[in-house]
Formats: sequence, structure tokens, C-alpha cells
Amino acid sequence: MTPHMSYPPIALILFGASGDLVWRKLAPALFDLYRDGWLPARWAIIGIARSPMDDASFRARLLDGVQRFARHRLDESAWTSFAERLFYLRGDYDDPTLYAALSQRLQTMDGADPEATHHIFYLAVPPGVTETIVDHLSAAGLVRDPSRHRVVIEKPFGHDLPSARRLNARLRQFLTESQVYRLDHYLGKDTVQNILALRFANAFFEPVWNRQYIDHVQITVAETVGVEHRGGYYDQTGALRDMVQSHLLQLLCLIAMEPPVSLTPEEIHHKKLEVLRAIRPIPGDQVDVYAVRGQYGRGRLDGEEVPAYREEPGVDPRSNTETYVALKLFVDNWRWQGVPFYLRTGKRLPVRASEVSITFRPVPHRAFPESAVRSWQPNRLILRLQPAEGVLFRFQAKVPGPVMRLQPVDMHFLYEEMFGNRPPEAYETLLLDLIRGDTTQSLEAAWVEAAWEVIQPILEAWAARPPADFPNYPAGTWGPPAAEELIARDGRSWDLPTILDPVGATPG
Ligand code: NDP
Ligand code: BG6
Repeated sequence: MTPHMSYPPIALILFGASGDLVWRKLAPALFDLYRDGWLPARWAIIGIARSPMDDASFRARLLDGVQRFARHRLDESAWTSFAERLFYLRGDYDDPTLYAALSQRLQTMDGADPEATHHIFYLAVPPGVTETIVDHLSAAGLVRDPSRHRVVIEKPFGHDLPSARRLNARLRQFLTESQVYRLDHYLGKDTVQNILALRFANAFFEPVWNRQYIDHVQITVAETVGVEHRGGYYDQTGALRDMVQSHLLQLLCLIAMEPPVSLTPEEIHHKKLEVLRAIRPIPGDQVDVYAVRGQYGRGRLDGEEVPAYREEPGVDPRSNTETYVALKLFVDNWRWQGVPFYLRTGKRLPVRASEVSITFRPVPHRAFPESAVRSWQPNRLILRLQPAEGVLFRFQAKVPGPVMRLQPVDMHFLYEEMFGNRPPEAYETLLLDLIRGDTTQSLEAAWVEAAWEVIQPILEAWAARPPADFPNYPAGTWGPPAAEELIARDGRSWDLPTILDPVGATPG
């Protein structure tokens, strides 16, 4: 807990402080950073929301989040000294008096040396509220100094392409680009950052990383949770905006991008943007060929009955919001021409598992006798993003014995086995970047708009044609049957996440 002396004093102002993100991710990450001595000597957090709370009840709420989700076991004395720096300010986001009160608070906290403290305004709120808050922060003179004042905006950035463009234009009126941190926490995950290391710090992969050797790519982000108490946010958002528009497209970009010349933020942004620009646009009248949506009904998970999405608190009982999306995309360039990228994500699926699975083309000729193989599996490289983080390579090997028999086996690297502990949470890495003023992982305005361009035809087609069959998958299953059909039409099937499909379980 020795403070990090080289970092400037920080005031972190959390808008949406009563929400899930602050409770589940930000507070535990900040506490873990504090325990590991990464926070500066002087820091404070001001939580802001409309919900009635005072400092004591705000601290109690964050304590609950820390107890459940922090990496470190709670230590009473550490918590007491941490909690002393947490404060709550109640107010409406469109009320100028809130910002006057905030300004007053910040002045008091900054004390004798106001020029030294950095103010980070973190907007952990639904996208519809972002513009209001930024307008008021600017009007109150709270974001005047580009070297000390930063604004963090969570994904989804905007609600669709026009609103994202509007928001970017609005931000440009008040802030320099270096003051804006568009945050996608997937970029803070070690396993996601490791995609760059795997591809570009090793000579082995590049020669086979193309259409000549790769048959197709699958990206699965499966969650067991429902919308819990986030119905108000989620019902206005849906899985396409909440997960695909940023998280899954980021993963696709990292898998598909060309080798960067350097790891500078500009170079990485540029290479990722090229991928989005090469994605084949989905024609409005063919959305059903490329995209499937689903919504969970009642079902069973881990032996427990769980309610339907439409029965969740804060959700419209007739809601048509999707909780599942499957997509097929093509990247039209020399490297990837004709290689499908299948993406799927959903809530209330049977297991929490995020994986990128790269399936290689089959061998050109099978010299082995039929008796050697019961079912032939092509080689697969699997990037396990979570849980049991690691990388697996699945290939055919000879089963020991006097006759030739083959079966798939895995070579693996597991973080826990190799490094002795699990990687830190993404928010720890990203919050530390923010404290240090490092914007490497911030999303660029142009990337965000290009990502909306990819999904805009789907948003429009789905808005124009409400689904006829919602709910169309029971909680605890792998999504609607149409998602199986989407990939089966190409003669393929979804890979079971490898935590459910250890080698040996599949017949060789
Ligand atoms: P929640 O709905 O749990 O919380 C958002 C908070 O914003 C609420 O507590 C609410 O506080 C306030 N708010 C202001 N206006 C509205 C409104 N119109 N509808 C609902 N809430 C409103 O959402 P999350 O905390 O989960 O998400 C916030 C942002 O963080 C989103 O952009 C989301 O994409 C992003 N995010 C969330 C993650 C998570 O795991 N939860 C992970 C990554 C990103 P009050 O009413 O008290 O003012
Ligand atoms: C958030 C979404 O961005 O990511 C949530 O808003 C989702 O709906 C979460 O649950 C998943 O994050 P992780 O890190 O648990 O995969």
C-alpha cells in the first residue's frame, strides 16, 4: 500500500456511481490497485448519481462490491483507509447546481496546490446521458485544462452511427482529443493484449495467418449472467450495441489486422481501422443471411430456475431487445478474402467462456488409413480469453501403441500454471493507464464510427422488423436454433468452448 510517489494527485469523479459498473468492476479494481501500491499519495473519489445515498451508504455499497469481486481478500484496516477517501454527491445530471457543487468540492479537495491535481471525469452512465454531462462540465469550466482534465466515456459510444458522429463532433467543441478516453475494457484484458504478443512477437504464426491456411475464425463471448439489475440500461441497448459494436469488433480487429510497424497508439489504431474499413457491408435486405438475434426465455442454469428476460426488473414485459447475437462477417482484403468470421455473444448461455477459435484448413491429402482416425479434426488455435486464460493448439497425434491410431491433443499455455496467478482485471490496467495519462488503449473517434458503420444496417433492419419469435431460446442453452443454421449453411458448426470440450472428450 505504499503510494506511488511519481503519479500526480488524482480526483476521480464517477458519474453513475449507483450503477453496476462502479459496484462490480471499478470499486474492486481501485481497491486492488490501492492494495498493490499503485495509487498516488493523494487521491479521492467522488461518486455522483441521482439515487439517494450519503457518504456512508455509498461506502457500504462499494464495500459490498469489493468483498465480492476484488482480487485481494478484504483487510479491515486497508478498507478503512481506502473508504475515508470515498465521497458521494447526489444530483441530477442536467442540473447546473450539481456542477457548481462539484466544482466547490474539487476546489476544497485540491487545497493549496490546485494546479497539481488531475481530475478524471468517468462517465459510467448509459450513452444517452453522456452529452448532457459533458455540456455541463464544460459550462462549469471543469474541463478547461487539457493537461489535467480528462473525460472517460464507456462503450457503447453513442447509440448508433448518427449519434456517435454527433457526440464526437460535440466533444470536439469542448475537449481536445487527448482529453477524451473512449473506454472498452476488453482492451485492458491481458489475454486480449496477448493477441498482439502472440501474433507479432513470434515468427511462427505470421506465415500461416491468412486465407491460404485458415478456414474460418469463431469469436464467442458467452455469459451466464442475465441483465441482473441493469434492466434500465440494457433494455435500451441490447447485445448488438452492448457487446458486438465494441468488444467483439475489437477482438476481430486484433485477429485480422496487418502487422504494425511499431506499438504506438497511432499505428495500432490505424491498423485496426483498416480492418473495419475492409469488412464487407451487409446489404439491408440480406441481414437475415448474416445476422441472428435472440432473447432468452425462462430456463435453468446451474440447477436453478431463472426468469425470462421480459420478467427481469426494469425490462419492458413486451421488450424486443436482443440478448443474443450471432453474425457472419467477411474482411475483404488479400489476407482474408473468403474467410468467414463468425461472432456470437449472449446472456444466460450455459457457461461463461470467451474464446477466439481459429480453425485451419484440413490437410490436402490424408495418407493415414481410415482405421487410424474415427473423426478427423482440423488443427485449431484457441485463445482462451476467460476463464482458465491461456492459449491452446489442438492437433493430431499418434496414440501410443503398436498400431497407427490418431487423436487430437492440446499443447497449452495457461496463465495460472505459467505465472502462478491469474492476470489482473482489465479495469485495473485501464484505471492505471488513466492515472498515468497513457491513452494507448483509448478508442479513436474514427474507429468508433467505423464500428457503428459495420452494424448500422443490422440495427436498421431489426428496428424495422420486430422479431416474431421472442423469446427464442431458453436460459441455459446455446441461443436460438437460427444461430446454428447460420453457420450450418456453410457446412460448419459452432465450437464448444474448450473448457467444456477438453481433448479426449471428443472421439478421435
Ligand atoms: P447501470 O444501469 O447499472 O448503471 C448506470 C447508472 O447510471 C445508474 O445507476 C443510474 O444511476 C445512472 N443513470 C443515469 N441515467 C440513466 C438512465 N437513463 N437509465 C439508467 N441509468 C441511468 O449500468 P452499468 O453501470 O452497467 O453501465 C454503465 C456504462 O458502463 C454503460 O455504458 C455500460 O456499457 C458500461 N459498462 C458496464 C459494464 C458492467 O459490467 N456493468 C462493463 C463495461 C462497460 P442513478 O439513477 O442513481 O443516477
Ligand atoms: C460490458 C457489458 O461491457 O461487458 C456487460 O455492458 C457485460 O453487459 C460485460 O456483462 C462483460 O464483461 P466481462 O469482462 O465480464 O466479459
